[in-house]
Amino acid sequence: MIVIGGSAHNGIGQSLAKILGVKFYEVEHKVFPDGESYVRIPVDVMGEDVVVVQSTYYPQDKHVMELLLMLEALNALMVSNVTAVVPYLAYSRQDRRFRHGEALSIKVVLQAIRHSGANSLVVVEPHHPDALAHFEGDARIADPIPELASALKGVNDPVILAPDKGALDRAQRLAKALGADYDYLEKSRDRVTGEVSLVSGPTEKLRGRSVILVDDIISTGGTMMLAAKASYEAGAKEVIATAVHGLFVSDNAIERIKAAGIKRIIVTNTVPQTSPHVEVVDVSPSIARKL
Ligand code: R5P
Repeated sequence: MIVIGGSAHNGIGQSLAKILGVKFYEVEHKVFPDGESYVRIPVDVMGEDVVVVQSTYYPQDKHVMELLLMLEALNALMVSNVTAVVPYLAYSRQDRRFRHGEALSIKVVLQAIRHSGANSLVVVEPHHPDALAHFEGDARIADPIPELASALKGVNDPVILAPDKGALDRAQRLAKALGADYDYLEKSRDRVTGEVSLVSGPTEKLRGRSVILVDDIISTGGTMMLAAKASYEAGAKEVIATAVHGLFVSDNAIERIKAAGIKRIIVTNTVPQTSPHVEVVDVSPSIARKL
């Protein structure tokens, strides 16, 4: 087996190769003056079992396109098997037609990955596991909750809070890993403006406790801010936010999250981070467990 990292492997390719004890290579890549992507596989891969690592954070379209090009090139070089490791899977939140006439984005991305030549797929904690059914091959989910739990081990008397019902399973898994209690909120999102509001709040469980919010994605930070406000109103002693994918899309998302009283922000390296306020956990062990 060999591991090949695309331009957006964010260090996961090397780390994975080290854990697996196999060789790592980086793809050659550039962008032509007109904006089109170019990739080249720089090693002989004939007959090899290849793991190609490419996360698909911003700019998503470029990173998805590079992944498809790498898959095409690998198949043309007669590899024996290709596993696409996509730590952050872009477009995964558009996994339903919420409004009439919308595109089912995740289906398009997964079908393109399959048809470009990936036999297997590994995604770290996708927004909704069922969406991977659109990949007509072997799709596996890497669970980074044990790695996030390790980063949270020192928190005293924690209660894990899912900021919406969709995150309940995740909160239960983290609670189990930490031997802690859990609770959940119900939120609703305006499908046009994207604004979130609370439908039903937390219970008495939060009073005087350290609340650990857990979600799959922090995007604008709106969900975490809303959940932090509800937690403090319910008597929380402190609030910590953890999520698998830290997108932090607006310029001041991290500052706004801190201003909402969130003491620590912990995410994984599926998306690169630069802020000193964000703690980063490596997901490579969770991916290695799936290979
Ligand atoms: C939505 O259901 C997701 O699980 C996250 O809660 C959402 O993507 C977070 O987005 P934001 O940070 O913009 O509220």
